[in-house]
Amino acid sequence: MPMKKLLTSAAFIAFGASAAMAQTVGFSQIGSESGWRAAETTLTKQQAEERGIDLKFSDAQQKQENQIAAIRSFIAQGVDAILLAPVVATGWDSVLEEAKEAEIPVVLLDRQVDSDKSLYLTAVGSDLVHEGEVAGQWLVDAVDGAECRVVELQGTTGSSPAIDRKTGFEKGIAGADNIEIVRSQTGDFTRAQGKEVMESFLQAEGGGADICALYAHNDDMAVGAIQAIKEAGLKPGEDILIVSIDAVPDIFQAMAAGEANATVELTPNMAGPAFDALKAYMADGTEPAKFIQTESKLYTQDDDPAGEYERRKDLGY
Ligand code: AHR
Repeated sequence: MPMKKLLTSAAFIAFGASAAMAQTVGFSQIGSESGWRAAETTLTKQQAEERGIDLKFSDAQQKQENQIAAIRSFIAQGVDAILLAPVVATGWDSVLEEAKEAEIPVVLLDRQVDSDKSLYLTAVGSDLVHEGEVAGQWLVDAVDGAECRVVELQGTTGSSPAIDRKTGFEKGIAGADNIEIVRSQTGDFTRAQGKEVMESFLQAEGGGADICALYAHNDDMAVGAIQAIKEAGLKPGEDILIVSIDAVPDIFQAMAAGEANATVELTPNMAGPAFDALKAYMADGTEPAKFIQTESKLYTQDDDPAGEYERRKDLGY
């Protein structure tokens, strides 16, 4: 009888851990829409290499069907575990059930799914609502009671960060009647769409004269929007306040130049905690918490943005 069948933890048996550490791990990545995601990919590969794990990497090019196909292929190859950064929150039940049936533990990275928690081992990520709330509270303090019309660049429609960061920001500004979100549209987490959508916001809002602040669900969209604001003849960071999420090197460069005001950090090292959890689980069935939370730190222009840029610029962003 295989060792895994002798273990007593129900979940351990359910996911079929069979070795002291996963030797082969499949990683279904969303794509490369942002600097943050490029860094997550780089760090995951590095972390795997340091631990002697054979990482099978699949880039889904933003398509859920490609992620589902990749997971099925990982299952067919008999990998020891699967890392999944899910592009959207819904539609994962069947393929997660297939992984569970095959006794392969799945760890979610950076985004959540709406499936039953029993279908994955754990999720590593930030409190996405809290991130938005921190951004909203920063704006409340920054405008200090002045009237403020906000435009919002949302992330990928249907993704958990787009849903939760919107909810969180609204929560953060809830008590401030002086702040109003006047326009909100998706920029799909990309720099190009951030710029394009910001151009349309500027056009619709008196060339930008009627906009007090931009809230972007990630830094890349903010960087694209900064370009659009400059091309419209305005000063980002002064005429229009900019607050976003991720803390990638480029936003620190913009902050150092006075062209962005605040960002909330999301660590790209989701794989480290994920591999640690898998190692413990595979060694003796240690159940990780269902959610392994990473930190969400606020950075403003007062937090040495030039130094932060230097510290981060070679980290794979
Ligand atoms: O899920 C995390 C988000 O996805 C990051 O904030 C964004 O940059 C990425 O593409």
